[in-house]
Amino acid sequence: MIIKNAKFYLGGKVVIKDILIEKGKITGIGKFKGEGIDANGLFALPGLIDPHVHLRDPGLTYKEDFHSGTRAALAGGFTTVLDMPNTTPPTTTVKSFKQKQVIAKKKAVCDYGLHFGATKNNFNEVKKAKPNSMKLCMGKTTGNLLVDDVYSILKHFSSFPKEKPLIVHAEDAETLEAIEKMKKGRAEIAEKIAVEKARLLAEQTDRVVYFAHTTTFEAVHLAKIWKKSLVEVAPHYLFLSREKDGKRLGKFSKVYPPLRSEAERRELWGALYFVDSVGSDHAPHTSQDKKKSSAGFPGLETTLALFLNAYNEGKIELPWIINRMAENPAKIFGLNSKGRIGKGYDGDITLVDLKEGWKVSADDFESKCGWTPYEGFTLKGRVKKVFLRGNLVVDDSKVVKEVKGKRVL
Ligand code: NCD
Ligand code: ZN
Ligand code: ZN
Repeated sequence: MIIKNAKFYLGGKVVIKDILIEKGKITGIGKFKGEGIDANGLFALPGLIDPHVHLRDPGLTYKEDFHSGTRAALAGGFTTVLDMPNTTPPTTTVKSFKQKQVIAKKKAVCDYGLHFGATKNNFNEVKKAKPNSMKLCMGKTTGNLLVDDVYSILKHFSSFPKEKPLIVHAEDAETLEAIEKMKKGRAEIAEKIAVEKARLLAEQTDRVVYFAHTTTFEAVHLAKIWKKSLVEVAPHYLFLSREKDGKRLGKFSKVYPPLRSEAERRELWGALYFVDSVGSDHAPHTSQDKKKSSAGFPGLETTLALFLNAYNEGKIELPWIINRMAENPAKIFGLNSKGRIGKGYDGDITLVDLKEGWKVSADDFESKCGWTPYEGFTLKGRVKKVFLRGNLVVDDSKVVKEVKGKRVL
């Protein structure tokens, strides 16, 4: 496969060159003879990596599954997704980890990895399963993976390999409960308390901890007091707020952690320099489930476009997007053949039209959940073609081909 006349960042500069992909790997960058696909004015990004998706498989496949979820990933410009463990059964035992591997192998049409889940007492299972990453929920969220006592948190922090990312959902369970009971207070402090707790325990155990979906400027900075902290942002805390979108979305605005105030949303933009990665936190629920107060937003098919739109508004630079949505996730999770357009890397390329405007409509999406909090938004910047290990899998913004996904984590 030759992608001709692609415009992309190479060594910090924008170049226009051909990309040669052979047997799934990038083998040359330059000028090549032969048949190929002309990138013709499109901008090439390394195939994006989403480190935070909930594909709901097994157990909740009426919301999403490995097939529909990975198709949604491709349509959104992601060639690799890392799946969260809050499925049914949860990915917290050797058995369920293996079960999910079998399912993913059968159904995934982009590359993928599986995060393991921590419980209050699955220390032996973790040791036996030897996962490369683990998720620990300090506060109540979808599923029942709660680890809310310091003893269990500390035990996981000290026994899970120190350099492997331990992903934390940082909302303090006790604080959330108290706020709910008193019907007073701001849920934001539950996050700050949990970030402080996790950061101090990480410091004490000298370990890497990865803070999922960090929502405020202050939380980012509290996390970063410890040098081995990694911080993820999710798009909804940057593009939606309680005042702006809470009313419009009604019950559909429920997400953990909750949407923040408009002032905090604006402030979070000022923390982006310190942020390590973007995770869509693709958390699909059907409309029916949302009406019954399920928490979470789908995000795979809107995240990149929201950031490209922000780029067009002068709010963010393209290198930030490439670094936080491809290079860094690859580095953090040890995906050595992913995240860059360069010789020897996998031939995963996302071609975007930086200037094309389009209107968001869940009717056009691959996700099974059937709705999006961004319905009706007009965004400038659109995924046009996606290559997965050299295969053209998205063309003219539609999934056109399926190849078997490969497990990378
Ligand atoms: C996620 C889900 O539904 O799986 N929900 C959410 O509101 N973010 C779980 C999570 O990431 O906490
Ligand atoms: Zn979470
Ligand atoms: Zn999540």
